[in-house]
Amino acid sequence: MASGLEIIPDADIGREWAREESLDYADPLRHLMHGADEDEDDTQTGRVRGDDGPHTDATVLLPAQRPSVLGDTLALSFPDTPAHGATTPITVHLKVDASPGCGGMHWPAGQTLGNYLAWRGTDAIVGRTVLELGAGTGLVGFVAGALGADVVITDQAMLLPLMRENVALNGLKDRVRVAELNWGEPLPPELRKMDVVLAADCVYFEPAFPLLVQTLVDLVGEETEVLFCYKKRRKADKRFFNLLKKHFTWSEVTDDPARPIYSKDAISLFRLRRRT
Ligand SMILES: C[S@@+](CC[C@H](N)C(=O)[O-])C[C@H]1O[C@@H](n2cnc3c(N)ncnc32)[C@H](O)[C@@H]1O
Repeated sequence: MASGLEIIPDADIGREWAREESLDYADPLRHLMHGADEDEDDTQTGRVRGDDGPHTDATVLLPAQRPSVLGDTLALSFPDTPAHGATTPITVHLKVDASPGCGGMHWPAGQTLGNYLAWRGTDAIVGRTVLELGAGTGLVGFVAGALGADVVITDQAMLLPLMRENVALNGLKDRVRVAELNWGEPLPPELRKMDVVLAADCVYFEPAFPLLVQTLVDLVGEETEVLFCYKKRRKADKRFFNLLKKHFTWSEVTDDPARPIYSKDAISLFRLRRRT
């Protein structure tokens, strides 16, 4: 019999969650990078098993392999369906670079949200103040800026140089500014009272769930429009929504013509509202 056999009873959810959390600390990108769903397999987690079969202490964790994206530049055009009122598609130029972290690449929920904003067109957003959380390359914020919004794209410090390069690349210095915002930290006065809050692909690292909820609470008032685009990767994401529901209700955005396509890829676009 294999020594150190680790059996996790299905009923012991708390223990399983604790284990998941410790794995998240070891490799924060393990779910994100591989698009793993709830039933991860070993090819997705990068786990190498010992000879003694599954669920043993001989399991070795290797860091997830990042795609070797270093300073490529790409162009993405939105929307992919005829837009409300808008005549020409919006093209966003992005320098992508994985070296500062996962935000240095473009992610499917970001493309989905950018596409929806572009499809809605200028009237829905022109002249409004917009803050994007976990903006990464800045893709979503650039679409909002190109539509005439007054935008702040925010992320952690290591992403800011890439975001600034991308602002310049898109000629959006007058419309889009870059600011550091670490979820859970006090909100600087200049980032308060935004008309619109955008977030895409920000649910993937469990220890950050309460921090993201706290920042949403700090940012969002009764009048704020919040568009929250999310790709389901695993069961534990439920913990984020359990925290979120203490402060917010949400409903799916149903008028997006691209919805039947992205929902096949487990992507949802929600509108969040503060509980009163
Ligand atoms: C998967 S990327 C999504 C990037 C972009 N929204 C998109 O859809 O392409 C998640 C982003 O959240 C940011 N992020 C993660 N934890 C954060 C935290 N505690 N505070 C602020 N940003 C954070 C990451 O730096 C990264 O840019």
